[in-house]
Amino acid sequence: MTIHQALLLAGGRGTRMWPLTATVPKGLLPVAGVPFLDLQIRQLAAAGIDEVFLAVGRSQLREWQQFAESRRGVRLVVEDEPLDTAGPVRAALDDLDERFLVLNGDVVIEADLAGYLAAAQPGAKATLGLVEVEDTSAYGVVVLDDSGMVDRFVEKPPADEAPATTVNAGLYVMTRAALAVYGEGPLSFERVVFPALAAEGALQGVVIAGRWLDIGTPELFLDCTGAVLAGKTALYRPKSAHLVEGECRGTTSGGWSWIAAEASVEPGAVVEESVVLPGAVVGSDTMVRHAIVGWDVVIGSNSIVTGATIIGAGATIGPNSELDHGIRIAPGARLEPGAVTFSPPQ
Ligand code: GDD
Ligand code: MG
Repeated sequence: MTIHQALLLAGGRGTRMWPLTATVPKGLLPVAGVPFLDLQIRQLAAAGIDEVFLAVGRSQLREWQQFAESRRGVRLVVEDEPLDTAGPVRAALDDLDERFLVLNGDVVIEADLAGYLAAAQPGAKATLGLVEVEDTSAYGVVVLDDSGMVDRFVEKPPADEAPATTVNAGLYVMTRAALAVYGEGPLSFERVVFPALAAEGALQGVVIAGRWLDIGTPELFLDCTGAVLAGKTALYRPKSAHLVEGECRGTTSGGWSWIAAEASVEPGAVVEESVVLPGAVVGSDTMVRHAIVGWDVVIGSNSIVTGATIIGAGATIGPNSELDHGIRIAPGARLEPGAVTFSPPQ
């Protein structure tokens, strides 16, 4: 049976990407100008998936609606309360085919999806996409038997108790049969559905190889943007590793940079391996290195913004500031000149 539907779980709060996520839901944060989830949707389209459900919460619903309305074949499944990972899928079951894909919405694994779909056995109630990692601590650990069925699924066991190095990639071929036995309400794939299917002998695992794209933390967001700009993914190839859509009267340096439309960089300023979002102004002789400057931010002159700092939308940073060490500036905040600095006066 061919698969043409996917459900993306995109309900998380994106706390680790605050304050960008105060303005835009995490899944829609722009990677060199493209909403992150578009990378996944493009990959799905290339594998013949033409109907995509996005499971989201009520917060930032307007942003999600705008996104869904402007994409063909994308529909929202909205939860009044968080239903965990399997609950939203169970709730949407009436609209889903006998077999469909489910994907965690916070990472994209650029892989041979067609090969993975072809490897899914019709007899399995679910087929997990798996990857090999060294450190399993952030993942669901999967033990396979010789026939490729899952013997055990253990969500985030303590590192010294992990029974394998094969982990859940957050990509599943799912069947209605796997979920129809559960009632409505919150339900976890990782803690309930998968362990039960494994015990039944109905859970298959297929190891896939591929590049992870992840925007879960400021460092990862910057790495992901850098990888995309450096042309390392086939899902989106920007024109240049230094993508200047706004006005740059200073310079860009390092391996990559993105200065979005309507942003401006004043003379003497340097933008290096950083993201300057639409409408932001980087003042003269200011250095932005390995940092994220939010929408409509104004940074005064002679400042340094570095160390995976994020400045929230509409904030004003006075001249002679030094923002470092992952500091987060709230949306709309106003910093007096030199108010934040790590350098003692001369
Ligand atoms: N709609 C909705 N509602 N989505 C949710 C909810 C919810 O209540 N809770 C979590 N999600 C979404 C998250 O946004 C994310 O895309 C996905 O479900 C997984 O949740 P995470 O909270 O990111 O889980 P994790 O990263 O700790 O672990 C998961 O991913 C690993 C691979 O990255 C698990 O699936 C692990 O087994 C897996 O190895
Ligand atoms: Mg996650």
